[in-house]
Amino acid sequence: MTVHILNQQTSIINQFLSEIRDVVIQKDSMRFRKNMERIGEIMACEISKQLDWKEKDVTTPLGIAKVPVLASQPVLATILRAGLPLHQGLFNYFDKAENAFISAYRKHATDGSFDIHIEYLSSPSLNNKTVLLSDPMLASGASMVLGYQALLKKGNPKHVHIVSVLGSAEGVEYVKNNLPSNTTLWIAAVDAELNSHKYIVPGLGDAGDLAFGEKE
Ligand code: URA
Repeated sequence: MTVHILNQQTSIINQFLSEIRDVVIQKDSMRFRKNMERIGEIMACEISKQLDWKEKDVTTPLGIAKVPVLASQPVLATILRAGLPLHQGLFNYFDKAENAFISAYRKHATDGSFDIHIEYLSSPSLNNKTVLLSDPMLASGASMVLGYQALLKKGNPKHVHIVSVLGSAEGVEYVKNNLPSNTTLWIAAVDAELNSHKYIVPGLGDAGDLAFGEKE
């Protein structure tokens, strides 16, 4: 697996990251969703450089322009519900993409530990397609790997780009060790720690709650 960590260079992505982390600014949930979406758009632009392109003759009012266009659109897959704003950012740019949705939840035991379960998958056939699988928080990495494995029931993709916003060092190691070589990880920033509830520290808190409100 190849790993790209985008905050290693100073770019506008760091501005959006600072706002989604900030305990005051992140309370504006419309701004939080918009910043996630904007990070998705930056990721789409970066990933597009690695997709397949072909040349097209485009008729302008004054002649013919030879321009590169995408040879095919990727499939955009995301993990509900926190992934939705990031997915929307990717979809803004790959606007003719097919889409896949996975729902994963933490099943808690009485001792406070939990397992992650996949309960729903809606996906087109993935055979020989390029897939962008997004989830903003790569905490332990377990839901990303389970989501990836669930997608394989829908065919063998040519390449899977994993798209995340914040990760823990442990989560990045986990996906590196559990995903094959035809995968690439794109992540905006990686923090050192996970706490006992498997939240990223300093992280940003609960991305799903910040985007959509607290759940029971
Ligand atoms: N999910 C979140 O929303 N935040 C974390 O820190 C970890 C998982």
